[in-house]
This record gives sequence, structure tokens and C-alpha cells, in this order.
Amino acid sequence: MSSSRTDPTGGARTIVVGVTGGIAAYKAVSVIRSLVLLGHDVSVIATEAALRFVGKPTLEAISRNPVNVDLYEGVSEVRHVSIGQSADVIVIAPATANTIAKLAAGIADDLLGNTVLASTAPVVLAPAMHTEMWGNAATVANVARLRERGMTIVGPGVGQLTGSDSGAGRMSEPDEIVAAVLLALAPRDLEGRRILVTAGGTREALDPVRFLGNRSSGRQGVALAAAAAARGATVTLIGANLEVAPPPGVQTVEVVSTADLAEAVNEQAPGHDTVIMTAAVADYRPRFVAEGKIKKEDQGESLTLDLVRNPDILSDLAASKRPDQIIVGFGAETESDDEALLALARAKIARKGSDYLVVNRVGWTSGFSLPDNDVVVVDSAGDIVKTAAGSKSTVAHRILDLLVRPTSQ
Ligand code: CTP
Repeated sequence: MSSSRTDPTGGARTIVVGVTGGIAAYKAVSVIRSLVLLGHDVSVIATEAALRFVGKPTLEAISRNPVNVDLYEGVSEVRHVSIGQSADVIVIAPATANTIAKLAAGIADDLLGNTVLASTAPVVLAPAMHTEMWGNAATVANVARLRERGMTIVGPGVGQLTGSDSGAGRMSEPDEIVAAVLLALAPRDLEGRRILVTAGGTREALDPVRFLGNRSSGRQGVALAAAAAARGATVTLIGANLEVAPPPGVQTVEVVSTADLAEAVNEQAPGHDTVIMTAAVADYRPRFVAEGKIKKEDQGESLTLDLVRNPDILSDLAASKRPDQIIVGFGAETESDDEALLALARAKIARKGSDYLVVNRVGWTSGFSLPDNDVVVVDSAGDIVKTAAGSKSTVAHRILDLLVRPTSQ
């Protein structure tokens, strides 16, 4: 068994992707590609039937590894057992009704069946079949049995099937399957923790149709919420005008303005041991919000907005926190010099009083809405305690590493 399973940052893992004989096998190629691009070592086991739908050279090129099909090849390496033993996770996409039935019965008449039986790794299944097959009592019972044994079932979705019909049975999209695989790989080192994450950017209304806002998409906060939930925490996400969907399994509260956010944070914070303030908060709001649309005819050639300061939610939280609570702030800065950026971070954490401050660079073309991030984390003494770069999910895991409390031996 691989010893790398304890790595909380989602480092390189050994992932076995089982591909079985369904038309959705073509979508397995995207699953494999995403997992390889995330840096994982992907080993594909295809059934004979799968190779009728997608070619072995495609699977080998995309996985960057030989594809295993035959139970009786490589017998001297005891491959029917060794592949399963070395797996950190096994994902079967698509999982046909036939494969699901065989897994439920523990049948090992091919390499994939042997591999699953010989492995203690978590198993993720992405069923794909016609609606009638999915709804058949035999499949329903088989799926229930596999769930009871701890396997994760992703989907299936409802939508267009292979023919002209549509309904339940369509294989989940590759992104959803990859997310389930990463979830299965995550350690449960935040179990028992209650983490509140704010994400997105607040908007201050000027009139019924206009607002002052910022470019925060909410991606980093949503990635933090997803990663914390994957690691076993109970997570509440307060989303301010999110451009991305909140993660499944996370209780989400939607807000618009800074006042809404402040109210939601004040209500939720006491029930959480950690608050991560990823949200980009509008520091000012219009003193007056116009009842009707502001008209040019009434304003002339220029318009002056009268703005008043909003409360600083992070500072207020830090000032009133319980000793057992950890408060994490974010600082988005446009400073290009590294030393000057660090100086800003130190000044900001001193001002805000949080336990940690995560600083990243933002600009016209960096930071917001992008899939990647690059951060430095300072503690309340101003010392650098972490640097992290990569996907917002990777950065989220690195930040969460700071929150793991040592287990008492
Ligand atoms: N923040 C907050 N309430 C505000 C403004 C910011 O809680 N009114 C929080 C943000 O959620 C973030 C941190 O404070 O965690 C820093 O936000 P940032 O916008 O970088 O800092 P500002 O306080 O606006 O400081 P500056 O004006 O120097 O950029």
C-alpha cells in the first residue's frame, strides 16, 4: 500500500482508472487527462468491452502509462493483485450496470474485478447506462450494496442519453468525477472542526440597477470551503455574489453587501472554531442609495458619489474572538516588489489582529477569476509561515495545513 496517502496537500498519488464498456468511455479520457495534469500517476485498466469504444493508444497516450487489459498478461508480476495494492484510489468511469453487478457480487473474472478485490483503497464509481437499467431493481440493489461497503457513487446525471432519449443514467461530467476522486484522496484531518469561510466580493447599491463592486470571483474561497469539507470539517460558506457554484456538502449563505456580510458573519462566527475571511469587502458604501435610477439629466456632466466607511469585519472578529478560535484574513495587494508586499502584509495583520494573513498579488491581469494563485501567509508576529502556489485548490490545502491541530498521542 502506498505510504503517500497521508499527504494532505494532494501531492502525486497513484490512481487506478477503470474504464468499462459504455459509450461514455470517451469521457473517461478527460477524467484521465485532468488527473494526469494534476500531477498524479494514473494507471488505466480497460475491459475488453471498453476498448470497443475507445482505443488503447488514446488511453496510453493520455495516461502516460501502459494500459492493462488482460488478466493473463504480466502474471510474473502478480499484476492482478499488485495494481490494486499500490492504488491510493480506484475510480471506475464509466461503470456499466454489468460492472456494478459484478462488483456487488465480488466477481473477479477480469483484471478490473481482481484489482478492486485486492485493494483497500477507496473506490469511486461513475455509473453510465440507460434510465431503465439504472432504475432496474437489480441495479438499485447492487448500487445500495456498494454504497454500504463505502464506495462513492458519482451521479449519474439526468440528460441526453446515447440515443434520442434522455433521462437518468448519463455519466457525470469529468470535472465532477475528478472532484469526487480528490475528495476520496483527502485525509480527514479536519474532522470535528467547524470552519466558516467567506468568499466573493461585496456590492454596494447606488440605485436599483447599479452597484460599486470588485472583481473577486469567489474561486479561492470556494476552493477553501471544498477542501475543508473534503478533509472532514463542517463548513459554512458565506458567498458574496459568487461567480462559481458553491461546493456540495457545504451549507451556504448568500449575501450581497458588506452590511449583509457583517450580519451573516456575526451570526455564524460564534458557532465556528475557525473563520477564514477570503471575501473582498467593499470598504465604502454610498451614504444614500437612490430610490429610483440615477438619471443623467439630473446629474449633468459629472457625478460625485458620497461614500461612507463600512465596518471592518475582520478587525471586529479578531477583537472579539474566543481563545479557541482561529481567524484568518486575506490581503489582496497590487504591490509588485516582494519585500514591500511583505511589509504591507505585516502592517495589515498588525492592524487587523488576525492569527494569520494570506497575501496575494492582484492586478489588471492577475489574481481575480484565474484558476491559479500564489500566496504568502504571515502569522500575527509577522513571520512567514507558508508559501503556496498552484491551483486555487492546492493553495487552499496548503492554507488548511496551518489549521490542523496536532493529535494527542
Ligand atoms: N475586510 C473586512 N472588512 C472590510 C474590509 C476588509 O473584513 N471592511 C477583510 C477582508 O475579508 C480580508 C482582509 O480584511 O480578509 C483584508 O482585506 P483588504 O481589502 O486587503 O484590506 P483593507 O482592510 O481594505 O485594507 P487596505 O485598504 O489597506 O487595502
